[in-house]
Amino acid sequence: MKTSLTIGNVVVSPPVLSAPMAGYTNFAHRELLRYLGGVGLIATEMVSARAFVCMEARGDGEPPRLWGVAEEPRPLAVQIWDNTPETLEELARRLAKELNVSVVDLNFGCPAPAIAKRSASGSYLLRDPAKVGELVGRVARICAPTPVTAKIRLGLTADSINAVDVAQAVEEAGAAALTVHGRTAKQMYSGFADWDEIAKIKGVLRSIPLIGNGDIKTPSEAVERLKNYPVDGIMIGRAGLDKPWIFRQIAQALRGETPEPDPTLRQQRDLLLKHYSLVVDRFGRERAVVMMRKIACHYSKGRPGGRNFRDKIARVATEEEFLATVRDAFVVEPDETEANETEANETTSEN
Ligand SMILES: Cc1cc2nc3c(=O)[nH]c(=O)nc-3n(C[C@H](O)[C@H](O)[C@H](O)COP(=O)(O)O)c2cc1C
Repeated sequence: MKTSLTIGNVVVSPPVLSAPMAGYTNFAHRELLRYLGGVGLIATEMVSARAFVCMEARGDGEPPRLWGVAEEPRPLAVQIWDNTPETLEELARRLAKELNVSVVDLNFGCPAPAIAKRSASGSYLLRDPAKVGELVGRVARICAPTPVTAKIRLGLTADSINAVDVAQAVEEAGAAALTVHGRTAKQMYSGFADWDEIAKIKGVLRSIPLIGNGDIKTPSEAVERLKNYPVDGIMIGRAGLDKPWIFRQIAQALRGETPEPDPTLRQQRDLLLKHYSLVVDRFGRERAVVMMRKIACHYSKGRPGGRNFRDKIARVATEEEFLATVRDAFVVEPDETEANETEANETTSEN
């Protein structure tokens, strides 16, 4: 079983990466992932290079999506997007040379209209492998020796799958790894990720690692993808929002151990509250409550009463309402309280 991969000078062990997810993988989420363990490389949300350049020019500080990047532990990948080499270079240089991030990742996969249509960036660029190569090359030269990677989809539509061409352009331009989400841009998130199409790309890459992405939801699926597909690593997105502890379970499965059970309700509630307090520290209570509405929804996926919780949490307006809704939904089982109290008493009497 593959136990690590290397991106330039960065060892990614286990070869399991957490996906960049706009609106979610902020510093608070990344803190939780580090606390829970099991992720080989953590990525930020995608950061607009243009927004960065404009904010710099106006003296407005840094985009909120760079929250935490300066101080948080490494390894850390920061994903950036734009379609102009000079703009990308400006942010990439800052990230590699001043903030010393481990990896600069370029987004060529985002299908959201604001990025792909209105800004001719993200997945829009897949139509032009040469342009993708030019952008990768320029950013790679500015960042060296910090590795630069690219994240792509299979192509724009099912009739124009060209990931193989894009992959070749990316490698020739000097990228240190390629991540492929096995959907087309047109699919957005519908249908399934096509791992056979991802596998075809391995044949054209000479030396850089191929990271497969899409629809991995369980530790056994993670093991299966790494074992049965010619990928060097896997990236996990949405499953890590619902169950941020899945990475730790995957790491255990990859070591041949039986993955530990999901955290208890009490532990899940504590994680959610830790997440909330980090967001409060950065954005203040009012904004934090709004930001947490969608984040908290993920903590309830697949649990009894989850739908009721999501209905309520989507409407909370104050911290009191937020905390009360969490308290009501994450009712700690009496035996769990007892177990914890016994544990606490035993620890106290030992001291
Ligand atoms: C809410 C959301 C936000 C996302 N934001 C980004 C992003 O900022 N950059 C990016 O490359 N991909 C982004 N993606 C795509 C994921 O990184 C990933 O490729 C996709 O979700 C498939 O992986 P999964 O099935 O494991 O979730 C986003 C996905 C979701 C659901």
